[in-house]
Amino acid sequence: MFPADRPRRLRSSAAMRRLVAETSVEPRQLVLPMFVGEGLTEPKPISSMPGVVQHTRDSARKAVAEAATLGLGGVMLFGIPEHKDAVGSGALDPDGILNVAIADARSEAGDDLLVMSDLCLDEFTDHGHCGVLDAQGRVDNDATLKIYGQMGVAHAEAGAHLVGPSGMMDGQVGVIRAALDAAGHTEVAILAYAAKYASAFYGPFREAVDSSLQGDRRTYQQDPANAREALREALLDVQEGADIVMVKPALGYLDLLPLIRSHVTVPVAAYNVSGEYAMVEAAAQNGWIDRDRAIDETITSIRRAGADIVLTYWAAEIAARH
Ligand code: PBG
Repeated sequence: MFPADRPRRLRSSAAMRRLVAETSVEPRQLVLPMFVGEGLTEPKPISSMPGVVQHTRDSARKAVAEAATLGLGGVMLFGIPEHKDAVGSGALDPDGILNVAIADARSEAGDDLLVMSDLCLDEFTDHGHCGVLDAQGRVDNDATLKIYGQMGVAHAEAGAHLVGPSGMMDGQVGVIRAALDAAGHTEVAILAYAAKYASAFYGPFREAVDSSLQGDRRTYQQDPANAREALREALLDVQEGADIVMVKPALGYLDLLPLIRSHVTVPVAAYNVSGEYAMVEAAAQNGWIDRDRAIDETITSIRRAGADIVLTYWAAEIAARH
């Protein structure tokens, strides 16, 4: 006559739902990615990412201070140089935009908020690849590693608490760890973009960093068809010294979070990328979805799947609502 089990009892009121919620999203678990443009005099909107801008050095400082006040876990910095070249020289220049943005952020944040840096060459190269090219125009893994090691040291010297290698070169974590240690930066941590897929969902990011990529990244970023390969990449990164491993994008790859979570002991992060952000914003602008609820649901689902840390362009907004 009556159902023996009534799961609805635990959903019967807001107070009951709050009591039994299995997952929560805390500001400390969120990291805000930020773009800083060289030579800008005012923040430049990114049309495919409504609400996100290329910061000036000044506006970036303010956003970092706000992130600290909001109790965010950290900021992940991207620099957009005025001039790009084949080898990405701007990446190693101590006065290059990313290095000065890291220094600005660190002086603003102190040790209250973690300053993280995207360690990759694609923002700095005119061909838009994450590494330097060989005579045949192929991405040269080992020549790129040498530059990554130097970049790691440059970021550490500028004040980064964590560096985030995102170029998917084989051996990058080990080379960066060795370079950091040799330069005396044993305290600087590595947040490895361990499982990074060749994804269409980075589309708006290309606008965000003024990238005109020639070709695609399929010889180094992962094939969306593969999951075991992501675990292999994560295990290699941990072996090479990664302190945190990250999955990217997040939503199409939620299955990898529990998989990796169950095989490593380091924290696992996920990056809710530009295209995932843009889809929600675009649908909300059209009145097709409830924006705030879609944002909460998105980030909660990434936490529920197993991410300890989430990188999201909504980090400050979520924390402000908290
Ligand atoms: C590489 C990098 C990319 C993103 C973060 N780091 C672009 C790429 O690999 O193609 C994408 C972030 C996003 O789409 O939000 N520097």
